[in-house]
Amino acid sequence: MTDTFEQIREQDRELIVPTYARYPLLITRARDTRLVDEQGGEYIDFLSGISVCNLGHSHPEVVRAIQEQAETLIHVSNLFYQREQLDLARALTATCSLDQVFFCNSGAEANEAAFKLARRYMRQVRGSSAYEIISLRDSFHGRTLATLTATGQSKVQEGFDPLPQGFRQVPPEDLSSLREAVTEQTAAVMLEVVQGEGGVRPLSRDYLLGVQELCREKGILFLIDEVQTGLGRTGAMWAHQHYGLTPDVFTVAKGLGNGLPVGAMLASQSVAQGFAPGSHAATFGGNPLVCRAGSKVLEILQRDDLCRRNREKQDLAFRLFRELKERWPERIRECRGMGLMLGIELTQSGKEVWQELLQRGYVCNLVQGTTLRLLPPFTITEEEIEGFVRTLELALEATEGY
Ligand SMILES: Cc1ncc(COP(=O)(O)O)c(C=O)c1O
Repeated sequence: MTDTFEQIREQDRELIVPTYARYPLLITRARDTRLVDEQGGEYIDFLSGISVCNLGHSHPEVVRAIQEQAETLIHVSNLFYQREQLDLARALTATCSLDQVFFCNSGAEANEAAFKLARRYMRQVRGSSAYEIISLRDSFHGRTLATLTATGQSKVQEGFDPLPQGFRQVPPEDLSSLREAVTEQTAAVMLEVVQGEGGVRPLSRDYLLGVQELCREKGILFLIDEVQTGLGRTGAMWAHQHYGLTPDVFTVAKGLGNGLPVGAMLASQSVAQGFAPGSHAATFGGNPLVCRAGSKVLEILQRDDLCRRNREKQDLAFRLFRELKERWPERIRECRGMGLMLGIELTQSGKEVWQELLQRGYVCNLVQGTTLRLLPPFTITEEEIEGFVRTLELALEATEGY
């Protein structure tokens, strides 16, 4: 006999370290934009495993590439040359202005690599003792000790002090604060072009260009965290490309393996010289299995022109959101985002609305308590977007007066 949902919940409480507040669902299968729970209930996925399964769940071509690779070579370690790693590095560097790639397994690891490279580059190449990383309030860069210290949200840092030294935050959209914060000890600035966990908040073009200019003027590195925004999510391959930015380093993870764990840090060749054999490593980083998946993901993104299609879907979503906001001005504060990275900020706690959406078969998530964050697979259809907005309206009706 299979376990009941209550038994699964109990086992989870017993066996899993309690770091997650889980949704009340046991998902057993997923295909394209649909999730299926253990009772056969279907959900339309507006979250993609938090911007991971961006081509849709179990995309048949990615599945085939993984199957073929699994039968040939899964892992051999970075002690060896690996053709699959070169293929993915070539495909990644062809999409941007950077030249070299360090492979790892997650977004936090990619950001750790970026921090380490910034420090070591300053020492080894510039002969400088600069070490400090400046990041922004409301940012999110990961959960390791260094990346949570760079993260501009105190709730992520609570209980973990003493935090590592060499990190400092400034308010976003305030260039003079950034200018004041830069000292002889500053090695780099890191930011997200759209702050994801911070509430889906795009930074302005003027601010982003201003940060880049300041970094160049002061001779410090410009690092961009593309972990959530990258790989077409915002309607460009990399969010920084909307503004013609040229970072020294950027990081990627989430959607790169369409579900397999793979991350990467890209750097210009001159900055990458900060590392040397032995200075950084990851056992699993860029093994043949995940790199084969990553190459297939990039091939499909480009072949199917998904960035352009995401921009078209963004236009539809924003039109529908605007109309909804006009009908519900007292419930919807703001609709924000870029491409298929969308946020609907409510005027009060969004928990009940989120729950109503879930009960009606739509999965999204709630950030900062009031913002519904939508990160659908790029295969989401116009009809599914319309269905979401219609259902959101029903959810607003059902929760009136809460
Ligand atoms: C912008 C950003 N950076 C870094 C991370 C951390 O990535 P991971 O959970 O893969 O370590 C996330 C995760 O949500 C993210 O959104």
